[in-house]
Amino acid sequence: MNRRSLLQGLSFSMLAAKLPGASSLYGQAEGPQAAPSRRIAANDRVNIGFIGPGSRGQELIRQLLRTPGVEIAAQCDVYEPRFAEVNEMVGKKVPAHRDYRELLQRKDIDAIFIATPPVFHASYAIAAMKSGRPVYCEKTIGFTQEDSQNVVDAVRKTGQVFQVGHQMRYASWIRDSIERVHQGEIGEPTQVYGYWHRSDNWRREAPNPSLEHLMNWRLYRESSGGLLEELGSHHIDIANWVFKERPQTILGASSIAVYHDGRTVGDNVQAVLGYSKGRRMFFSSITDNGLMADQLWIYGTEGSLQITLEDATFYKQTSKTITEASHSDVVQKGVATGASYSADSAMPYRGPGDRLQAKPGEDATLTACKSFVECVRSKQQPFANVEVGFGSAIACSTGRAAVYEERVAKIPQLPA
Ligand SMILES: NC(=O)c1ccc[n+]([C@@H]2O[C@H](COP(=O)([O-])OP(=O)(O)OC[C@H]3O[C@@H](n4cnc5c(N)ncnc54)[C@H](O)[C@@H]3O)[C@@H](O)[C@H]2O)c1
Repeated sequence: MNRRSLLQGLSFSMLAAKLPGASSLYGQAEGPQAAPSRRIAANDRVNIGFIGPGSRGQELIRQLLRTPGVEIAAQCDVYEPRFAEVNEMVGKKVPAHRDYRELLQRKDIDAIFIATPPVFHASYAIAAMKSGRPVYCEKTIGFTQEDSQNVVDAVRKTGQVFQVGHQMRYASWIRDSIERVHQGEIGEPTQVYGYWHRSDNWRREAPNPSLEHLMNWRLYRESSGGLLEELGSHHIDIANWVFKERPQTILGASSIAVYHDGRTVGDNVQAVLGYSKGRRMFFSSITDNGLMADQLWIYGTEGSLQITLEDATFYKQTSKTITEASHSDVVQKGVATGASYSADSAMPYRGPGDRLQAKPGEDATLTACKSFVECVRSKQQPFANVEVGFGSAIACSTGRAAVYEERVAKIPQLPA
């Protein structure tokens, strides 16, 4: 799909074309006018400018309100009803702007949060960094390959603190269990399987038809990488973390199996990502059956790890050894070899696991927000830094074509 076809007859594209600074697919953002940012002392309040306080944005604001030393100082959205929602959460009238460039012009903003749809992430993040502000940007950091590279370049050039919204990296049970994987607890991890299955059509009620694409941007290819990007990016990031590298290839498939409602992204997706030494990540998302829910399995040569949103469990059984059958066994039960079916060897492992749990009241998004604010004060790059963001974003933007065309695509690597 080329830029011209994207811009023809697509209402989100028309909306995006009217808006400043959508993804490089829509043209680069206009250069921001630099507003000098102030020095933040250890005890100073950090004033946040928030761009895109929709569903995820409001969750981030909720957690920022629980973060000491933070003020929601300005907001920006193209959908005005958001302003009252934010004011109600914050408990006061937060200065509001319809254009992100006005927000960046303010002198009282120390850091920027971006939670718009992904087509705007790269341009807005780059403009914010150029204006002298650290950025917390929701995943994925770029919609196109070029976007993600541009964000990395901007961080390298400006030296700004940049954190991506991969909050799973801030969950204690996930961090601790992956550290144990890195220490060799399940041997060599060779496979990561991510399931994100739901029973939910992913559609939002639009107040009127003109708002369909603004509300349901996730359902249309011009504004969304579908389930691979919206859900799979988190799991791909976990695989990158486990394997300590970014994937080299992606093989994908997708279809509309249930929701024939005009959407152009699939309602299910499967992807296989290739890492060095033959290691693999498999991601599956379906939307008409939530049985598997959101979980990852990390399989190693000496054990397995299951990760969910509240715990992580190590299992030590890797495979079942099939012993040589005695003559009497053969007479009684038939011959069993590892190469053929046997109920004894083919039943799932149901033994005990070693479980790590979330701490009482722990919230990974809150930890991610607190950590970002600390990084803003100390000028340290966060754990979920721009290279982490690049790793999931580049796989997803490359994977889009692979999924739609059901083929393998080579994932570009990050130049040093
Ligand atoms: N980290 C996570 O777990 C997580 C969870 C959900 C969503 N997300 C990400 O957060 C982002 C937002 O998702 P969402 O579900 O909140 O979407 P949403 O549609 O609910 O919210 C997006 C908001 O951005 C506003 N907006 C759109 N274009 C804008 C523009 N040009 N300038 C300013 N505001 C604009 C919309 O009006 C809306 O209020 C996406 O990138 C998504 O992938 C991350």
